[in-house]
Formats: sequence, structure tokens, C-alpha cells
Amino acid sequence: MSGVFAAAAARLAERGKALEDLMGYADRPGIISFAGGFPDPATFPLETFRRVAAAATAKRRGFQYAPVAGNPRLRERVAAAMPFPAAPDEVVITSGSQQGLDLLGKILLDPQDLVLVESPTYLGALQAFDPLGPVYVTVAGDEEGILPEALGEALSRMGGARPKFLYLTPNFQNPTGRTLSGERRGPILELAARYGFYILEDNAYGELYFRVPPPPPLRALPGGEERVIYLGTFSKILAPGLRVGWVVAPAEVRRAFLQAKTAADLGSGSLAQEIMLGVMEELVLADHLRKVREFYARRAHAMDRTLGEVFAGGVGVWRVPDGGFFVWLTLPEGVDTSMLLPMAVDRGVAYVPGNPLCPDGQGARSARLTFSCATEEDIAEGGKRLGEALRHFAT
Ligand SMILES: Cc1ncc(COP(=O)(O)O)c(C=O)c1O
Repeated sequence: MSGVFAAAAARLAERGKALEDLMGYADRPGIISFAGGFPDPATFPLETFRRVAAAATAKRRGFQYAPVAGNPRLRERVAAAMPFPAAPDEVVITSGSQQGLDLLGKILLDPQDLVLVESPTYLGALQAFDPLGPVYVTVAGDEEGILPEALGEALSRMGGARPKFLYLTPNFQNPTGRTLSGERRGPILELAARYGFYILEDNAYGELYFRVPPPPPLRALPGGEERVIYLGTFSKILAPGLRVGWVVAPAEVRRAFLQAKTAADLGSGSLAQEIMLGVMEELVLADHLRKVREFYARRAHAMDRTLGEVFAGGVGVWRVPDGGFFVWLTLPEGVDTSMLLPMAVDRGVAYVPGNPLCPDGQGARSARLTFSCATEEDIAEGGKRLGEALRHFAT
């Protein structure tokens, strides 16, 4: 990178580039994509959006600056919808939860600070933290999320050093789809209290369960209000295009966060917030969510069915998630999903290779398959193409 750029830009470019190089050609016409992590536009409640947007644009308020912490009525609505008691004052509206991650990185991280992460984890979080130059410490886990014992060991290995925070996506994780079991949540929170670090609880997918709600968030557990910084978003349940998310944080974090938010954008877009408020007031959210959950559950089952047909007999290992958008597929020893990707794309299917999503350097034979955005027919056809690519790779 040329000398005009800050070191932070180089750190930012490094991770982005690895994936860009891999994915650059994955959006060719005719490709069935299991790659992007988008919601399906068919789930957007368009009629309601049109009506409330017409009302919001008839008033001047949506064209003026909003308070930096967000539209007060929207903060009230969001606070009331949280799965734990929260006051409107505790909520800060952000431009997507991604901005929450970015600003939390800015206010919490100095170069070389320790950050605890799952492996694999959400790539966008790593991209938000990377410019600050943290050192990632991965915490081992299994199908039920990270292990409190592994977290305890990681903490004692640090000697006197203390991590700044643990970044966690407890529900229907991006990229594995896994959920942190209820029994593990308390002990993890206890470790955060004992060692004095925050937990960034990113709950982007928690509402999108297929059968039963996930266990209560860590923020809802005793002591959670002191240690947990909770991130929420409308992106996956209503629509990402308005860029409205939120952070619920302890008072001292909120103060610094609001200063960073002021520097970043003087507050999120007023019109988008007016529209989201209108949607929250007009739409029966419970009915909408029921439909959206059924919609994605069908696709998850279609993906499971297809993988069962294509990768039978232990060729692939995966687990149908209980919610969200993703399946994590692990292929046999010797397969490298980064090398397999061009062959898959040649056959008309794309996915995200596992390795760039794994801060511990693992994941080479795994792939993230997104089922949220492909029709059931495309899931079946895409799965078949993936099977062909694997046969070609093996020969
Ligand atoms: C785990 C997770 N967190 C945060 C985000 C950011 O979403 P947004 O900024 O649209 O709220 C995403 C988007 O894919 C995600 O998967």
C-alpha cells in the first residue's frame, strides 16, 4: 500500500483482500449464490414500508438532524421490544449494528489489546476491529458454542493481561449457525465479571428461530447489565437498506460511544428512523416474524435435504441450524474450500470458504452456505453443482 495511507488502512485491506480475491468472480450471471449473507427481499414488508414512508416524507422532521442517540420514540419502541428490561435512555440507535461494532472498536481498543473471539466468527466484526490493531485470542467451542472451560483456560494463559472484550454471536451464529447453549451463558458472564472484560453480544439473528426461541441473552442474566454490550438490528427481520440497528450499553460505555457516534456521523439518518418507527407502530411485528421464521425454516430444511442427498455417507458434515441464515459444511480431509471455489463457480455455484472466517487459521475444509437468499429449487440445484465440483476436485 502506498505511503499516504495510515497503518490502519493496511490492516483493514489485508483481511478484505483475502476474501475479495476469492469472491471477485462469484457474482457472475447464472451463479447460484450461497455466498452473501443477505435476507431475501421477499420478506421485506413492502406495503407497510410504502405507507409509512409516504407519511414520514410528508413531514419535515425526517429531513432534520436527529438526536445523536437516535429518535426518542424509536428508542422507546426498541427498548420495549428487548428480551430484557431496558430503559429508552440505554438504547443508542446506530447505522446498522455494523456501526455499533466499528464504534465499539474505536472506543475500547488500543493496538495490541487482546480481544477474545469465536473461531469461526463474523468477518465484519474482525474487519471493524482490525484497523485498531488488536490481538485476537480464539476460544475453542463445539456445536453448542464456546466452552466456558476453554474461555477460563484462555484467560489464565494471559497471565496478568486482561482482554478488552469477548465478541460473541450467541444465536444462530454467522457463519456456523450454531447457538450457545443456555447452560454456558451464565458461566461465561461470570468469567467476564471476574476478569473485568466486556462481552459484545451480537444478536443479529436471535428473532429468526425455526421452532423455539433461543435461550435468554447474556444481557438478561444477573450482572449482564454491567458487563454486556448488546447489539441489535432490523436488518435481518425487516430490511437492511435503511441501516437501522442499536446498541444497549452500560452508562460509561454509552458516554464514550455517543462521542464516537457524534464524530462519525452526528447521528443516524432521521428519515430512516422515522420510517422504522412507523413500521414498528403499524406492523404487527409478531405476525410478521412468524411468517419470516417459516420462510427461512423452509429454506433451511431444503438445504439440509439437498446436503443429505449430495454429501451422504459422511462425505460432508453439517448440522441444520435452529434459526438464522447459515449452514457450516465441512468436507473430507484434503479438500481446501478456497481451492474448490473456482471449480464450484465454473459449475455455477458460490459459497464463502471457511478459512478467512477463522481467526485461528483453521476452517480450510469448511464452507459457509447461506440458504436465506436462494429458492428451494436453487438450493437443490446449487447443492448438486457443489457435489459435482467436489467430485472434480477429488479426481
Ligand atoms: C453477526 C452479524 N452482526 C452484524 C451484522 C451487521 O448487520 P447490520 O449492520 O446490517 O445491522 C451482520 C450482517 O451480516 C451479521 O451477520
